[in-house]
Amino acid sequence: MDKKALETLLSDMSTEEKVMQLVQIPGSEYEADAEITGVERGQVKESVKRLAGSTLGIWGSKRLKKIQEQYMKEHPHHIPLMFMLDVIHGHKTVLPCPLGQGASFDPEAVRKGAAMQAKEAAADGVHATFSPMADLCRDARWGRIMESTGEDKLLNSRMAAAMVEGYQGEDLKDSAHIAACVKHFAAYGAAEGGRDYNNTELSEHTLREHYLRAYGEAIKKDPVMVMTSFNSINGIPATGNTFLMKKVLREEFGFKGVLISDWGAVGEMINHGYAEDRKDAALKGMMAGVDIDMCSGCYSAHLEELVNSGAVPMKLLDEAVLRVLNMKNELGLFEDPFRGIDTDAGPVISEESRNLAREAAAAGLVLLENKGKALPLRKEKNAFIGPYADTKRLQSSWAFSGDDENTVSLWEAALELYGPEALKTAAGCTMLDQDAVTARGQRHVDHWQEENDRLLTEAVSAAEWADTVILCLGEDSAQSGEATSKASLKLPAVQLRLLSEIKKTGKRIVTLVFTGRPLELMEVRELSDALMICWLPGTEGGHAVLDVISGKRSPSGRLPVSFPYTVGQEPLHYDIYPTGRPKPENGPFEYTSRYLDCENGALYPFGYGLSYTSFEYGGEKLSAQKMSAPESITASVKVRNTGDMRGDVTVQLYIRDVCASRVRPVRELAGFRKISLDPGAEEEVSFVINEEMLRFWTAEEKWESEAGKFLVWICDSSSAGKPLEFRLEGRA
Ligand code: NOJ
Repeated sequence: MDKKALETLLSDMSTEEKVMQLVQIPGSEYEADAEITGVERGQVKESVKRLAGSTLGIWGSKRLKKIQEQYMKEHPHHIPLMFMLDVIHGHKTVLPCPLGQGASFDPEAVRKGAAMQAKEAAADGVHATFSPMADLCRDARWGRIMESTGEDKLLNSRMAAAMVEGYQGEDLKDSAHIAACVKHFAAYGAAEGGRDYNNTELSEHTLREHYLRAYGEAIKKDPVMVMTSFNSINGIPATGNTFLMKKVLREEFGFKGVLISDWGAVGEMINHGYAEDRKDAALKGMMAGVDIDMCSGCYSAHLEELVNSGAVPMKLLDEAVLRVLNMKNELGLFEDPFRGIDTDAGPVISEESRNLAREAAAAGLVLLENKGKALPLRKEKNAFIGPYADTKRLQSSWAFSGDDENTVSLWEAALELYGPEALKTAAGCTMLDQDAVTARGQRHVDHWQEENDRLLTEAVSAAEWADTVILCLGEDSAQSGEATSKASLKLPAVQLRLLSEIKKTGKRIVTLVFTGRPLELMEVRELSDALMICWLPGTEGGHAVLDVISGKRSPSGRLPVSFPYTVGQEPLHYDIYPTGRPKPENGPFEYTSRYLDCENGALYPFGYGLSYTSFEYGGEKLSAQKMSAPESITASVKVRNTGDMRGDVTVQLYIRDVCASRVRPVRELAGFRKISLDPGAEEEVSFVINEEMLRFWTAEEKWESEAGKFLVWICDSSSAGKPLEFRLEGRA
């Protein structure tokens, strides 16, 4: 349809019909088995169900076809219904959780992964996904850190942009692609105390320089949708926040697509104390610019009345409805309401998608310790012990359309690679402590203590038989994701008991940690020979982990987020502002900015990760010591593989603006490049530094750079390297 035809359609619609295009209802209203948490069916009136413009949380070619047929038959203008779903890191084939994808430092691989997810979801009738999540996360207590690509604005920007490109492809009419939705606008990741849904207080410069950046960069790729966030920000709920949605999103970022609320967030403005009742909430959401009300029911109940009374101008309603119709049009739904689902078969997990998932999971594994070259595994007796040794629960709480049955466990992959002779496995303990609670409630094990004692005895005897124990520990996959904030970042006590008992056997210990968030790993580090973070690695997790621990490939993941010594350091991130009393490297420490009982920095910093081979950095240089816009400077370094195995390395560029009208972070990632090197090979890696990269939100509240001294590191992690220097000239 062309624009004119859409406008004609709009002018022919009744106010009720228009309003209903802005109403999204749960898929459970159409089908009993749609998986949506905390939703009771039958809450939505038949009249709303008949006209609501979109639904979520439901998939399956056959059933969506049926629903679409019925819906379009009853709709007065036969406008198709839109199906949306949280395809976060996989539909049928599940990739590692986004934090694990962040660890790959490989946006191109992430783009390919998103394209694969889109293809599978589209073949199951899905039109739009609620991804990417571009929230900056500096707090490991917040369970949704698992859904982010980490603590850094540049890494998040590249990853979120890559996901939008992957999901949407070149042309949304191509039924192998789906619409993307950048979320959660804005600053949801800064929830106070790391407690989900909590409020956010941020200065405008931190908001703009750090928190808004990745949304902005992703929006440059033209996502069809943006989603508001649950939190209030500086006292105003994001869902009713005109500064965010009108000034920043529409005016500054130039976003032209559909703005959808998060689940129930329009109605939640009442709880926030920002709307008096549901009618007021509908008014505030609409006036602030929310197009689609996801499931609060406020628009369906009150928007028509608000338009009729003139409280909401018809023009505003028309603009919002046109954006929704336009989205349907861009998806090609007017030509083909059954887009992607011409057969009943639905998507199948292909070899190609498995390979992609295996590669993505392997690329994100981060080796933190490797004492005495405990890894790769030797051809000897290996025991896979721990609650993650033989489980298919390697997806995460945000992969509900994926099926655990398709997942390859570590044990299956180990058997495939080594055969049964020199292998043993034992669970060792339950996944959770007795009193642990996940988002969906407690996982109860009968006779918990007896069961754990029995599992421990079995595990110790397997360890005594083995030469090396591969200890597979971690958080339960339902302990990260929405509503999974935690005040402790320790592994379950029952798993730590297993580790210390296995240690007593004197065997070599390779600890693999499966997690959706940074954890406290001091104790684990002490007791292990090797330590590797495996995140929640998805469908091909078992194969990917075995590829790396067996030495088929070298680990190359880097931490996308700081791992603390202790939870008391949270929120923790490398790009902090300097203080007037920085802690000196070698003391005296009194009256400096520090903890009495802990380091300031991370146990394992952002950007850190080991390899089986070794890399040497040398000849770091800048092409000039002075620069004025529009010139640029090239920063380069020679990287050599000095070990005996091919390996990938992520070269990182950090910059510091030494003195400015507003204090600038001690370092900020300004570029990164992942390269592969054969043993003995060397490559020069260069980065261009231009004036635009040096801009920030100045004391005059403008995006500008300021003349002065800059430090540059070309190095291996956020805490490595020696700085070079240059001056930016020509601006006051
Ligand atoms: C709530 C979550 O915050 C959001 O990320 C998700 O997309 C929606 N629910 C829809 O499931």
